[in-house]
Amino acid sequence: MKIYIGCDHAGYEMKAAVKELLESKGHIVQDMGGDGGRVDYPEIAKKLGKAVVSDDGSRGILICGTGIGMSIAANKVKGVRAALCADHFSAKYTRLHNDANVMCMGARTLGVGVALELAELFIDTPFEGGRHETRVNMIRGMEEEF
Ligand code: RB5
Repeated sequence: MKIYIGCDHAGYEMKAAVKELLESKGHIVQDMGGDGGRVDYPEIAKKLGKAVVSDDGSRGILICGTGIGMSIAANKVKGVRAALCADHFSAKYTRLHNDANVMCMGARTLGVGVALELAELFIDTPFEGGRHETRVNMIRGMEEEF
């Protein structure tokens, strides 16, 4: 799978670990920055969100201090369904039920071990479809409305 990954200065080390894991599993990982220096998270979230929505079937992972800023910013990009995840159940069910295409994590709130497991779950879990497709389509409708 093609996976876009991005971070701000707070998430740089965690990003490196997640990237290494995903590459070791055969995924193609494209790094959208930052490079460890101070960077404003909306800049990276916008760049990554645009890449994910224009590359069908791809996913994105964003890491900042809390994951909150990245998720707020990424969700402003039309077509992005970004989920802030800090537990295994959420990482799994945001794929099964929300068809989330971007997952956000907090480097200051999560250990690297947990982050690696959440990343794997997010990438490996398919969308369940069915009644959940109807709800995701309602979200798409809201994007047109507002
Ligand atoms: C950067 O200091 C911090 O504000 C950022 O990484 C993130 O936590 C924002 O939501």
